[in-house]
Amino acid sequence: MTLNRTHLAALALIFAIVWAFASAPPALLDHQRNATAATIPIQLVLKTIARENDIVRSLYTKSIVGAGLKAGLRFDEYWKNEDVQAGPLPALFLREAALSVQQNPVRLGLFLGSHQPISDANQFSGSQTAIFDKILASGEAEYFYDPGSERWTAMFPDFASVMACVKCHNEHPDSPKKDWVLDDVMGATTWSYPHATVSPDEFINIIDAVRGGFRDAYRAYLEEIEGFDNPPEVGSRWPSAGYAVPDEETFMKEFEQRISANTLNTLLESRR
Ligand code: HEC
Repeated sequence: MTLNRTHLAALALIFAIVWAFASAPPALLDHQRNATAATIPIQLVLKTIARENDIVRSLYTKSIVGAGLKAGLRFDEYWKNEDVQAGPLPALFLREAALSVQQNPVRLGLFLGSHQPISDANQFSGSQTAIFDKILASGEAEYFYDPGSERWTAMFPDFASVMACVKCHNEHPDSPKKDWVLDDVMGATTWSYPHATVSPDEFINIIDAVRGGFRDAYRAYLEEIEGFDNPPEVGSRWPSAGYAVPDEETFMKEFEQRISANTLNTLLESRR
């Protein structure tokens, strides 16, 4: 096989990504952007981080919350209150990650919204409302420029993938909708960015910010655990093995193992 330009470009990106795992470049401020190097469409970037989000959410929901509940761990919407000895619900894990991402200079936006939210703060507004209606009908992601926020935006449907989603939302006193069923579109994870295209460096910074957000969210849970009267063991074991949770490195390593092939594949697809 001879290497053509597309292959070379793909290889360069792979090296860039692999290298990013070791050290990410400092985030570029807007005026430092190298616009000519910005050839990667934002749609691809947002799709890549949405997959990262799916993987971490499923890891957290199944292996920490699902298995943890069986092992005697608790998860609660008021997990941050001093008198509550519990970890964050999956949606709140994402909100925690979003807070971290928003503090990062990369200017990536993350919002988990719904048309029937438990929390009013999660109600869609502006042009997102009409676009979410399309997602409700199609179950497919939507990519668009939002003139209100001046951001390139991607909305990914958030499905009721397990009964726990349905049950908890239907039973919640603040839920405006009590008849969710499995596989319903319950909302949408909404990512946004101010530019239509990014350079490989920017792409790496974005992935780095997202992973940093997941790491911070998980760390916030571990910090909460420190205050428990009867804290689970924190180390290399997972809740499926008993009253234990993985430490930060174990959790992130499992996530990175699950995601890395996906992220590379997305990059490769884009270069074909
Ligand atoms: C044990 C309860 C519980 C479980 C399980 C749960 N949620 Fe939620 N979810 C909540 C609460 C409480 C909120 C509101 C959090 C807040 O204050 O932002 C929420 C927020 C959300 C939101 C943002 C809109 C809103 O309702 O405020 C979406 C979308 C969502 N959840 C989807 C899901 C999906 C999909 C699953 C399953 C993968 C799931 N939830 C599992 C309790 C739960």
